[in-house]
Amino acid sequence: MQSLQDKASEWSGVAAADAFAIDGCNIFESLGGTPQPFVDLSTNFYTRVYEDEEEWFREIFAGSKKEDAIQNQYEFLIQRMGGPPLFSERRGHPALIGRHRAFPVTHRAAERWLHHMQQALDTTESIDADSKAKMTNFFRHTAYFLVAGLETTRQHSHGCRGTACKHGASKPAE
Ligand code: HEM
Repeated sequence: MQSLQDKASEWSGVAAADAFAIDGCNIFESLGGTPQPFVDLSTNFYTRVYEDEEEWFREIFAGSKKEDAIQNQYEFLIQRMGGPPLFSERRGHPALIGRHRAFPVTHRAAERWLHHMQQALDTTESIDADSKAKMTNFFRHTAYFLVAGLETTRQHSHGCRGTACKHGASKPAE
């Protein structure tokens, strides 16, 4: 059977090795070792999401306050890209598939999410081009990992236990 990682690679067009190139360096440190670039990116991203002209997509986020969504995302990204484990300290294990179970994470939703993230990356000046390229691959692969994971758990409705996942893992200590 095709693994979720394989499906994510096929659907996103991003090989696992490229998605996890973020682990071959420390993006948090290379961006200056402060939260600011990640705060900038998440604020930029969620401003676009909450103002999306496409109501079906905007509605997916209607249950969360924009400020909370921004904080959840930048703390996750800081932790995942080599910085301190802010997300886990406040929210617990990332468990990305489980945390998205309430939402319709379809192929169409993934493309819209990625569209806003690409625009946010393109207009966030505190992130250099090389880091942006690595982050783009990570985001594409993770978005489709979520689509695949939720499709699978909905089909079999037995949760996602035992699913090997590096998307939410903290970067291993060097
Ligand atoms: C939270 C939707 C992709 C990481 C959320 C929330 C929604 C959502 C509605 C709740 C907002 C909040 O209260 O924080 C989606 C959709 C996606 C998607 C439709 C399309 C594929 C992603 C990707 C990542 C991600 C690619 C990681 C790279 C997170 C994180 C949270 C979150 C860390 C916060 C969870 C928490 O603190 O409970 N997402 N998401 N999401 N999402 Fe996504």
